[in-house]
Amino acid sequence: MNRRIFLKSAAAGVAAAGLPQIVRAEVLRSPGPNSRVTLGVIGCGNQAPVDLAEFLRIEQVQVVVVCDVNRASHGYKTPEQYLGREPVRDLVTAHYAKMTRSGTYRGCDMTADFREVLARKDVDAVAIITPDHWHAIMTIWAAAAGKDIYCQKPLGLTIRDGQEMIRAVRRHRRILQTGSQWRSTPVIRRFCEAVRNGAVGRPLKVRTLVAPNNFKGPGPGWQPAPVPEGFDYDMWLGPAPLAPYHPDRCLYRFRFISDYSGGQTTNFGHHSNGVAFWALGLDDTGPLEVWNLGAEWPPKGDLFDTATKVHFGARFENGVELECVTDKRQFGVRIEGTDGWIETDGRTITASSPAIETWEPGPDAVRLYDSPNHYRNFIECVLSRKEPAEPVEVGHRVTSVCHLGNIAMKLDRRLRWDPKAERFVDDETANAMLSRPHRAPWSYEVPA
Ligand SMILES: NC(=O)c1ccc[n+]([C@@H]2O[C@H](COP(=O)([O-])OP(=O)(O)OC[C@H]3O[C@@H](n4cnc5c(N)ncnc54)[C@H](O)[C@@H]3O)[C@@H](O)[C@H]2O)c1
Repeated sequence: MNRRIFLKSAAAGVAAAGLPQIVRAEVLRSPGPNSRVTLGVIGCGNQAPVDLAEFLRIEQVQVVVVCDVNRASHGYKTPEQYLGREPVRDLVTAHYAKMTRSGTYRGCDMTADFREVLARKDVDAVAIITPDHWHAIMTIWAAAAGKDIYCQKPLGLTIRDGQEMIRAVRRHRRILQTGSQWRSTPVIRRFCEAVRNGAVGRPLKVRTLVAPNNFKGPGPGWQPAPVPEGFDYDMWLGPAPLAPYHPDRCLYRFRFISDYSGGQTTNFGHHSNGVAFWALGLDDTGPLEVWNLGAEWPPKGDLFDTATKVHFGARFENGVELECVTDKRQFGVRIEGTDGWIETDGRTITASSPAIETWEPGPDAVRLYDSPNHYRNFIECVLSRKEPAEPVEVGHRVTSVCHLGNIAMKLDRRLRWDPKAERFVDDETANAMLSRPHRAPWSYEVPA
C-alpha cells in the first residue's frame, strides 16, 4: 500500500470510528504494513515543527496528542514563529485533514499537562522536545508509564540526570532515541568509518565546534515582567528554582541560562562531540581530564549566565585530546592523526589528501550503525525492539563530556575524571556539580 492510500484509509477509518484506531506498540514486536505507533509530542516550541514534519512523514506514525504549557505565542527563534500547543495541534490536524476527502478530520488532542499524555493508554511513544531541565523527569516518568521515548538532546541538565534516565529506560525496557540526528546522517557515518578504519592513522587530536550565542541577555539590572496570558509559568519552571518571569528566560532563550540548560556547550556541543565520540569509538567512556581553555561569560547580573565563548579541552584514555570551541561555522569536527587530517561540516568531508577525502569502505572495513533517517530509525526500533542509532547510554556519554566541559570552564581548573565511576577525582566542589536539587513536587521519583 503506498503512503497516500494508507493514510487516506487510516484517516477514513478513524473518522468513521470517531476515535483513533490504536494498536499498542507492546503487542507489535515486528514491523508490518499495518503496524502503527501512536505518538504524543511534549513541547511545541522552536524544534517541535521540525521533528513533527519528520514524524508525520512516517506511514506507521499517528500523532494523537500534543502538549505544551504555552497556549500560543509569537517570536521564538525568529519573529515569524507562531508556536505553542494550539498552533502545533492545528498543524497536525491540518496534516491529517489533507488525507480525507471531507477535510474535516480532527486527528489530534492537546493538553497543557504532560502527565495527561503519559496517562493515556492510547499513546505508545512520546517525543520530548522541552527545555533540557525537563528531559530527565519526563523521560523517567514516561518510561515508567510504558512509553518509548524520542528525547531531544542533550540528555538532561546534569550527569545524574543521564544516569537516572539510563536506569529508568533499562528498568522498564523502553526504546530511547537521543534526538541528535547526526547519528543518522550518511556523510557523518562515512566520516566516522574513515577514522575508525585508520584513514588518518592513529587519531591524536579532535577539534569540535559549537555555534556562538545567537541572542544577548537583557543585561544587568533586568526587571521581571508579567507572565503572559495562556502560559503556565510554574509548570514551565517545573523542577528548576523559582524565579521571576522575564520573556528572555523561557521560549527558545532558556538555552542561555544554566538553571535550564548548559548553553551552547550542551546545545551544539552534543552534536559535534557526538560525532567525535562516534568516530573515535568513545561511546562507552569519558575523558580522564578536562580543563578550561579560555571560556568567556556574560556580564555579572545578566539573566544569561552560560558561556558566551565555549573553549575547553579534554584528554581520553587512548591519548586523544579534544578541543571544543565556539566558531561561527556553528558545527564541525576535525580529526588529526599520525597520517593526516579529516574534517566535516555535516555536508561535506575535506581531508589532507584525496585518498582520505574519498575513502570508501572495503569488504573488511569496520562498519558503523546504518540509519539513514533518525526518526524512522526510532519508529522501526519501537516496532522491532532493536537498539536505535543513539540509545540512552550513548546520549548520556556525549552529553556528559559537555557537562564536564561546562564544569571545568566554570571552576577554571584542570579536573581529573573517572569515567567508570563517573566522579571527579579528589575534587568535591566539582562532584557537587554533578546533580541539582529539584523544586517540589518534581523529582525522579515516579508518583504512585
Ligand atoms: N536536534 C536538534 O537539532 C535541535 C534543534 C533545536 C532544539 N533542540 C532541542 O529541543 C529542545 C527544545 O528546544 P526549542 O528550541 O524547541 O525550545 P523552545 O523553548 O522553543 O520550545 C520548548 C517548548 O517546551 C515547552 N515546555 C516547557 N515546559 C514544558 C512542560 N512542563 N510541559 C510541556 N511543554 C513544556 C515550552 O513552553 C516551549 O514551547 C531542547 O532540548 C533543544 O536542545 C534540538
